[in-house]
Amino acid sequence: MSQGLTVAFLGIDGIGKSTLCRAFEERVRESGQEVVTVTWRSALEETAAPWPAVPLQQLWLESFRTLYGAGLRDGEPLDIPRGYDDWRDNDWERHLAAEPVMGNKASGALAAAFVEIAGNVLLASEVTRKALARGAIVVQESYPIKHVLKELAVAERLAGEGTGGEGGEGGDPAAAAVGELTRTLRGLLDLVFGSSLLRPDVGILVDGPSSYAYRWRTAQNGAVGALEDYGPAGERSEESFSRMQDETAKLFREYADSWGWIVHQVDDGGVEANTARGLAALCAHPELARRLGAPARPGDVTA
Ligand SMILES: Nc1ncnc2c1ncn2[C@@H]1O[C@H](COP(=O)(O)OP(=O)(O)OP(=O)(O)O)[C@@H](O)[C@H]1O
Ligand SMILES: [Mg+2]
Repeated sequence: MSQGLTVAFLGIDGIGKSTLCRAFEERVRESGQEVVTVTWRSALEETAAPWPAVPLQQLWLESFRTLYGAGLRDGEPLDIPRGYDDWRDNDWERHLAAEPVMGNKASGALAAAFVEIAGNVLLASEVTRKALARGAIVVQESYPIKHVLKELAVAERLAGEGTGGEGGEGGDPAAAAVGELTRTLRGLLDLVFGSSLLRPDVGILVDGPSSYAYRWRTAQNGAVGALEDYGPAGERSEESFSRMQDETAKLFREYADSWGWIVHQVDDGGVEANTARGLAALCAHPELARRLGAPARPGDVTA
């Protein structure tokens, strides 16, 4: 049996990665091949064995605890559950996303970035590689460098406030050192996510203006989600969303360019036309064209 193939989607929050991903999965299924979508979140639900399920659950919980846990709500410390089951059953993820936390610490956001990397090392080794060994096409609908970059953006903002650099009170004695390590880690992400463990065989950047993403996301969910703006640094607004997304989009373009990824530029021409165009761009990749052949229905890939 031939070795499988990994395909990863990168792009800002709400720009249409999952939408394109669903169409791609369908296209792979039509070709008669196995397609597996691997996300950390789905692995939490589907992995039964204690290894890697328990560390994946604990690291998931700790990624939120580190990111938010130093902050205050209504002047009170957050009492995030110690156990994963309690966290999940009481819907803490939604609870944390609902409002900004105040007085948060840069150290937590930087630690969250390390936790994120740790979780993805396990996911890639223990979940993705197993599906690949079966010969499946493994899809990652949101390449995890996205979350790490956002956590580092929050860390840098909080470090700036902690040193008094952005109108803060200058009350965090660790802020300058945490800010320095944050920038060092960002400089290493190219190596970490370009490593043979984490980098996909085929990558696609879904690129487009944050104003579209904001419109589409709020139409979809009524609000933006956790870490889609600087909520963990106490800022919740459309402007905060745009700033977070525009900053990360610029970095995504640089990574996609240096890794030689496909770039799909979305426009305001509707979901169907954008999906058809994105799918055509993705399936034109030589390795995918070889495995998938011509589309089952020619209409599928014409805009
Ligand atoms: N080209 C488009 N035109 C209009 N709406 C779109 C377009 N693409 C996606 N949408 C809508 O935008 C919303 C967000 O899309 P989607 O969930 O695919 O984004 P995403 O990039 O996966 O977001 P996330 O980063 O949060 O996973 C959905 O409601 C989707 O239907
Ligand atoms: Mg998505």
